[in-house]
Amino acid sequence: MSTTVRVHGDQPYDVVIGRHLLGELPALLGEGVRRVLVVHPAALATSAEAVREDLLAAGFEAFVAEVPDAEAAKTAQVAAFLWGVLGQADFTRSDAVVALGGGATTDLGGFVAATWLRGIRVVQVPTTLLAMVDAAVGGKTGINTAEGKNLVGAFHPPAGVLCDLAALESLPPHDFVAGLAEVVKCGFIADPRILELVEANTELLRDPVAASSSPVLAELVERAVAVKARVVGEDLKEAGLREILNYGHTFGHAIEQVERYQWRHGAAVSVGMVFVAELARLAGRLSDDVVERHRAILTSLGLPVSYRGDRWDRLVAAMRRDKKTRGDLLRFVVLEDVGRPVRLEGPDPTLLAAAYAEVSEGAPAPSRAVSL
Ligand SMILES: NC(=O)c1ccc[n+]([C@@H]2O[C@H](COP(=O)([O-])OP(=O)(O)OC[C@H]3O[C@@H](n4cnc5c(N)ncnc54)[C@H](O)[C@@H]3O)[C@@H](O)[C@H]2O)c1
Repeated sequence: MSTTVRVHGDQPYDVVIGRHLLGELPALLGEGVRRVLVVHPAALATSAEAVREDLLAAGFEAFVAEVPDAEAAKTAQVAAFLWGVLGQADFTRSDAVVALGGGATTDLGGFVAATWLRGIRVVQVPTTLLAMVDAAVGGKTGINTAEGKNLVGAFHPPAGVLCDLAALESLPPHDFVAGLAEVVKCGFIADPRILELVEANTELLRDPVAASSSPVLAELVERAVAVKARVVGEDLKEAGLREILNYGHTFGHAIEQVERYQWRHGAAVSVGMVFVAELARLAGRLSDDVVERHRAILTSLGLPVSYRGDRWDRLVAAMRRDKKTRGDLLRFVVLEDVGRPVRLEGPDPTLLAAAYAEVSEGAPAPSRAVSL
C-alpha cells in the first residue's frame, strides 16, 4: 500500500510513500523518456542494479553511475563526471536522471539534471529519512565548493519522489534519528499530530528496522512531507513562507560550521530548535511548557539538546555568515505556540546570549533560568 502527497506549484509532482515501490518508477518518469541514468553511492549498488533491471524490463535504456559517498559526491568534479556520462550516452532533453541515495546523492543528481541541457527530468529516490522528508522534496539541488556547502545550485523540482520505507532498514540508527529531528521540526512548525505520534512511539522510533515497517513511521513521513509540500508549493524560491522550514537551522548551521561538519545535521538542528524555543520564551513569546516539550521529545529520541558553553563568539560569527542572514540583522524563526511560527529579526544580543546559556552544557536547569 502507498500514499501520495501532491506538491503544488508551477510544476506539480507526486511524492509516493510506501514499501517496495520500484514498480511506480516508470509512471513517475512520465511520458517520452527513453534513457535513464541511475546515480547512486557504492552502498546502494545492489539496489541501483535492481532499479536498472526494472527499467530495462519496462523498455527504457537504463544506465548506472556510481558516485562517492555522502558529501564527497557534492563536488564540481563529480558533477562533471556525470555530465560526461550523460554526454557519452547521448542523453537528450526528454531523458531523465534517477537519484538513488541520501540527501547528498539527491542534491547532486538533482543538480546534474538541472544543468544538463538546461534541465532534464529527475526522479528522486531518497534512501535516508532526512532525504525523504527534506532533501529530496522541494526542488533545491546543489553541490559544495571549497568555500562552503551548497554554494552552487539550482531550484529544479523533481518529476516525482519515491520514498520506499523498506530502504530505511539498513540505515545506521544515528542517521535514522538525525532524520527524525526534521520530522519533529515539521511537528512544531505546522502539525501537532506529528508530536503526539512521536511522544506515543519513542521506543519504536529508536529502532530503524522495527520503525520502517510500522504504519507509525509511514504516517510520520507522510505528514512531514505534507508540511514541506504545502510550504514549497506556495514558495519555491524562499521569498517568505519557506523560511519556516529553517526552524532551528540558524543556530544548527552555526554548530555544524563550528564543528566542521562532524556533527550530523539533524543533531545540530535538534539543539538549534531548543535554542530558538528558549529565545522565544525569553522574548516573552512562548510558554515554558512548549519549550520543555521540545526538550522532552528530542531527548526521548536520543537527540542532543545542549552544546558546549565556550563557543559563543564562533557561533555568532557563523550565524552572521549564514546565507539566510540578510544585511546585518540575525533572523530567526520562532514559535508563539505549536504550529504558529513567526519571524524574529535582530533580537537583543542579551537575549541571544541568555538563550545560549540555556542550551550550554552544564547550564542551570530551566526552572532556574537566567534572568535578564
Ligand atoms: N536540497 C535540500 O533541500 C536539502 C535539505 C536538507 C539536506 N540537504 C542535504 O542532504 C545531505 C544530507 O543528507 P543525508 O543525511 O541523507 O546524508 P547522505 O546522503 O550523506 O547519507 C548518509 C549516509 O547514509 C548512507 N546511506 C544512504 N541510504 C542508506 C541506506 N538506505 N542504508 C544504509 N546507508 C545508507 C549514505 O551512503 C551515506 O554514507 C547534505 O548534503 C545536505 O546539504 C539538502
